Amino acid sequence: MSLLEKSEIIKKEFETDRAKAVSDAKPEAVEALRVSYLGRKGKVTALMEDLRNVSKEDRPAAGKAVNLIRQFIEGSIDELKSQARSWELAAIINREPLDVTLPVDEQKQVGSLHPVSIVRQQLIKVFRSLGFTVVDGPEIDFDFFNFSALNIPDHHPARDMQDTFYVDAPEKMLLRTHTSNIQIHTMLNERPPLRVIAPGRVFRCDNDMTHTPMFHQIEGFVVDENITFAHLKGTIDTFLKAIFGSTLKTRFRPSFFPFVEPGAEFDVECGVCKGKGCRTCKDTGWIEIGGCGMIHPNVFEAVGYDSSRYSGFAFGFGMDRIAMNRFALPDLRQLFEGDYEFLGHFPVHSN
Ligand code: PHE
Repeated sequence: MSLLEKSEIIKKEFETDRAKAVSDAKPEAVEALRVSYLGRKGKVTALMEDLRNVSKEDRPAAGKAVNLIRQFIEGSIDELKSQARSWELAAIINREPLDVTLPVDEQKQVGSLHPVSIVRQQLIKVFRSLGFTVVDGPEIDFDFFNFSALNIPDHHPARDMQDTFYVDAPEKMLLRTHTSNIQIHTMLNERPPLRVIAPGRVFRCDNDMTHTPMFHQIEGFVVDENITFAHLKGTIDTFLKAIFGSTLKTRFRPSFFPFVEPGAEFDVECGVCKGKGCRTCKDTGWIEIGGCGMIHPNVFEAVGYDSSRYSGFAFGFGMDRIAMNRFALPDLRQLFEGDYEFLGHFPVHSN
């Protein structure tokens, strides 16, 4: 084989080996490539030595060819060496992905408040301004607090398995079906005067477009001497106007809850049609908000309060429905799916 042919073969081999080194993307691979071609025992070095055996006439041409190959390989390796520096940098960045010296992306998405949280924070603010304090209570509770002490007798349909999630426990326990259990806990732990609200999760066996097995209520109650229905009406009218707007009307309809007497439900004028009737209010002109009434003497008896001295009112309503109304959400279940896109549409601050 002539030296020229040999040079051609070495050039081809080099090209294959160079491609391998590039795909390795490591500085050591470049060094190994240099040694195997340009090192003391390298292929190009051997080629130069072979020149000695070439006849005098052929030597200039062969020398030129071998030199061209050598220059080509040296040039390629220099180029690879400078590339190797960026490979090293990339490897470091991959190993330590957090570069605290990089400027912060100002556009970065921050979390937003859940629509129910927005409503809850607003309600708390309104009630605090009316002198209420916020309390908390258990979500898993004894039957006594959720039902018996609230004058809900054993045969009451609200105790039916359909509505209530019971918990397997030595004593009769359940997931609270309303926040009214907090009335009992608070009245037992404290003495009048009481002016309290309690937001929290409640649970019922129900699941469709407008019902979810877990939802959020807020309970409120006031106990003192000489508390009347007028105080109840004033409180509810004030908070509804604060939340829905001061120009909307509010109304009370007689209703029944075992733990209040008299009992009522309260509505706010539909903000979409201003009471004229539309799809949102199902053509009634009103949006139903919650239940209320004067605390039943049997409830006071259950907690050991003297009902001839004290009177009080209580109210309770769902916060999810208010969030739906406020943000015009078609499906209640959207509130519980945790969809990032959906939740991202709400503000970071509630006011
Ligand atoms: N607890 C009742 C419910 O969940 C609401 C209510 C609370 C009614 C307080 C009257 C007084 O439907």
